[in-house]
Amino acid sequence: MANELLPPYRDATQPVELRVHDLLSRMTLKEKVAQMIQIECSVVSPAALSGLAVGSVLSGGGSAPSERASAREWADMVDNMQQLALASRLGIPILYGTDAVHGHSNLYGATIFPHNIALGATRDGDLARRIGEATALEVRAAGIQWAFAPCVAVLRDPRWGRCYESYSEDTEIVRTMTSIVSGLQGSAPKDHPSGHPFLAGRKNVIACAKHFVGDGGTNKGTNEGNTNCTFEELEAIHMRPYLHCLEQGVSTVMASYSSWNGEPLHSNRYLITDILKGKLGFQGFVVSDWEGLDRLSQPRGSDYRNCILSSINAGIDMVVMVPFRYEKFIEDLIYLVESGNIPMSRIDDAVERILRVKFVAGLFEQPFTDRSLLDVVGCKDHRLLAREAVRKSLVLLKNGNDMRKPFLPLDKNARKILVAGAHADDIGYQCGGWTISWFGCSGRTTIGTTILEGTREAVGNETEIIYEKCPSEASLGDQEYSYAIVAIGEDTYAEFSGDRTQLNIPFDGDNIVSMVASRIPTVVIVISGRPLTIEPELLDRVEALVAAWLPGTEGGGVADVLFGNHNFEGQLPITWFKSVDQLPMNAGDNAYDPLFPLGYGLKMNLDQS
Ligand code: GLC
Repeated sequence: MANELLPPYRDATQPVELRVHDLLSRMTLKEKVAQMIQIECSVVSPAALSGLAVGSVLSGGGSAPSERASAREWADMVDNMQQLALASRLGIPILYGTDAVHGHSNLYGATIFPHNIALGATRDGDLARRIGEATALEVRAAGIQWAFAPCVAVLRDPRWGRCYESYSEDTEIVRTMTSIVSGLQGSAPKDHPSGHPFLAGRKNVIACAKHFVGDGGTNKGTNEGNTNCTFEELEAIHMRPYLHCLEQGVSTVMASYSSWNGEPLHSNRYLITDILKGKLGFQGFVVSDWEGLDRLSQPRGSDYRNCILSSINAGIDMVVMVPFRYEKFIEDLIYLVESGNIPMSRIDDAVERILRVKFVAGLFEQPFTDRSLLDVVGCKDHRLLAREAVRKSLVLLKNGNDMRKPFLPLDKNARKILVAGAHADDIGYQCGGWTISWFGCSGRTTIGTTILEGTREAVGNETEIIYEKCPSEASLGDQEYSYAIVAIGEDTYAEFSGDRTQLNIPFDGDNIVSMVASRIPTVVIVISGRPLTIEPELLDRVEALVAAWLPGTEGGGVADVLFGNHNFEGQLPITWFKSVDQLPMNAGDNAYDPLFPLGYGLKMNLDQS
């Protein structure tokens, strides 16, 4: 029954589309343009929220209320901003977004799940959905309603600095893993009166499929580079995962910095408007990437008015910008509309889409944090889920030099085990980029269990564990060890800082492994966002080799499998090359000569042990 006393847009009993159009009809051009703006939290002001009424605020990679801020601090910050937004003339709530790409990775103490490349090794869509549910709770606990996830890039060259943000080189594996969208957003019955595939409550977040489209297919894996392919190839490889995201009602799509056949995605009307919104029927809104418009001009940010013209007319609905750009954005966009360069219908389409998402997300009825969620951050159940994901993501690439004498599982009651390597006792390395800070970093950056700590938990009381981060011939001396577990791998990185031309094992990992393995039967754990070059003599020298990717905070999952509590299940989500000179090299290529092919993964014979 309609509530006569409320304007329709404030009446939750009214259909979403009616509320959208009622509110739109009440907005000035300046208020509409403001809804199309997302600003970084560091530049938020009462003027921007209560005065201009910008549509959204974000915390970029590593941006937080304070060092190691608690969920409560985050929630207070977001709710205070919301109060200011609701004090604006029409009281439109803001959407607050963050990159929760493997758990709520900006939040100290949150559960950090394995990065996407690891999850791709599980091929387990239901696991992805459950991780989405847990992530949504830990994001909402901090007051945030929008996660810029999942990245559904189909990576085709591991030299790309965002390789680990992709689930796989295989579009079907990526498509399977996009079930995370239903976990993040929740799902409504098909015949729900809202007509929308989901109704995010206060335990769900708005998801964001990114980066549309072809971000993983750039030449040589150059970040923000150019993807050269036919439209049929773009559809068959890079666009297919978006279909599954749209089927689940994904609310937002982020445009890619990259280009397709030389045309930047941020100004590509054909792909954004004709294909994504037209042919595929996307009903949510398209958000730019961080300073995505600025990158349309060289030098970056010059000729901003033309960048606005080309991107908004291409179909970008919300624009992410950094400090103080928004006054100029408002001035320029209003000029472009009033001068007839951008039709008012384009502005109305963008704002309708933004308002639709806010209404469907329930923001008008429940704009503030559900404080009962505060205790879910880093809770036991979520950490157990993350540990399950670690176990299922490990890929066994070698197990003994003789099939009849497998090396794994290790004996829990072995007399003395050496645990070595820079990645054996380092939460920061386990988590990789997009963790607490944008690029991540080595060290005890958040709460979790390292591979060493997991090993100590797994073995019997009589077993002696010796840890050496940087073992040497001198330090090993003539000590007798049953086994050695050597964890090596990459430094942390994100985006452009991860682009490489060579993919050798960093930190002298080869020599450490060779030195240890020449003395002690050794299993190597590779902690990396992608395959690395494994020299044949190194592979011959070790007894076993495990790809652990970037497992996140629950490093105990590695020991769960090494000592046989669980078997290996992982299968390579990406081709493991012999040499970077072979790249790009993907399953299905004519010249396909990998060290380990896509899908490769051994199991242990646990019956014997
Ligand atoms: C970054 C990334 C994008 C992220 C955005 C906001 O540059 O390209 O994935 O969501 O900025 O942090």
